[in-house]
Amino acid sequence: MISLSIKHKHILPFVSEDEIRLFEQEIKLHRDAIYNRSGKGSEFLGWVDLPENTDSGLIESIESDARTIREQSDAVVVVGIGGSYLGARAVIEALSANFDHRNNDAGPQVVYAGHHLDEDYLYELLQWLDNRSYSVIVISKSGTTTEPAIAFRLLRRHLEKKVGKDEAARRIFAITDASKGALKKLAVSQGYATYTIPDDVGGRYSVLTPVGLLPIAVAGHDIRELMEGAGRMAAHLRNHDTLDSNPSAQYAVIRNILLNKGMSTEIMASYNPAMQYMIEWWKQLFGESEGKEGKGIFPAGVIFTTDLHSMGQYIQEGQRHLFETLLNIGQPKHSIVIPEDPDDDDGLNYIAGKRISEVSRMASGGTVLAHVDGGVPNIELYLPELNAAGLGEIIYFFEMACALSGYMLGVNPFDQPGVEAYKRNMFALLEKPGFEEEGKVLKNRL
Ligand code: PA5
Repeated sequence: MISLSIKHKHILPFVSEDEIRLFEQEIKLHRDAIYNRSGKGSEFLGWVDLPENTDSGLIESIESDARTIREQSDAVVVVGIGGSYLGARAVIEALSANFDHRNNDAGPQVVYAGHHLDEDYLYELLQWLDNRSYSVIVISKSGTTTEPAIAFRLLRRHLEKKVGKDEAARRIFAITDASKGALKKLAVSQGYATYTIPDDVGGRYSVLTPVGLLPIAVAGHDIRELMEGAGRMAAHLRNHDTLDSNPSAQYAVIRNILLNKGMSTEIMASYNPAMQYMIEWWKQLFGESEGKEGKGIFPAGVIFTTDLHSMGQYIQEGQRHLFETLLNIGQPKHSIVIPEDPDDDDGLNYIAGKRISEVSRMASGGTVLAHVDGGVPNIELYLPELNAAGLGEIIYFFEMACALSGYMLGVNPFDQPGVEAYKRNMFALLEKPGFEEEGKVLKNRL
């Protein structure tokens, strides 16, 4: 049984059950295209069977390397960008304690690099690593992406200088293509332990491969439970082909109906700050999968109640091109009751005795109703508690919904041709060999 549920009570003022049912046949065709591997981008459908097909030997090997890394390191630098970084960070941040930077069981602190080009960040990271015993997990499917390649060159040098070339090689783990790319070559020549990203799994669908699993295991989280949750969702979605019983299909249909009604921006909201990077992962998944050929819903994210004090005004009364999806987590891990105060100087005694989560639930309920009254439809995704299995369910739920939604839009949800445009210009401006002529033209335009 899956624990994630989807509620669309607060969609019904905007989209009727009859409108949703009209898509019953279309969604069946898209499901068939996915399971039969006959739709656009079908060479990248390896993610569909990952929970079922992942070999237990691979999980054991990841767990064993994770134990080694945890024993030998105060810190672990995860190097990667986009799909080679966001999934791992989403799960790690969702499951880790808020203030205990040394994750579970005094494991190493996980930090990130290669996800931007900020010189000060990299300088300060290297300085911070000077006094720490650390390991590096470098992740790049192509093995040639500029941001992680630069960060890795700096880190490799730093680590070799600190512990020597042989020990550095034992502390570097590379996750990349089976045969192609500079990282693969480097890993072979330097003798790094290596994991392979399957050919048929694209970056943003790769969190349930070693790309996500190794960093998540190093952070001390249960990757078997994560895969079990994903497996439960995969089985449920495969075995339920009606719109009523298939939450990914429902979500894909509702968001496309809303798009057709002019709601071209979806705001993913959570009242749980630990979900911030899950929202970032979701933004990439849907943004890169759907935003092409002049189509797609713009994915935005907010953390409430924080952003009710910054974005709340716009959501309530700005342009009406928005709908909201609330990622609602039921039970918190801990309990705090608001204390009674004899003087009640702050006027809070009316909520004394209530838990913070109860206040948050009322904030959430009040906000949903206010936004619906303001013309913003609200889809609710409900997970009873935040644990690895639940996150596995959410991940697989969104991946399937994204594939279905992309097919509904008529695009290939598994490619990202538009990402190349900035890279080409950057290479030309940096005078990369082969780009000299383009570089001259672009420099005149800057
Ligand atoms: O989803 C994708 O394919 C992208 O976001 C990639 O993951 C990202 O560009 C990083 O690519 P690579 O793993 O080749 O370094």
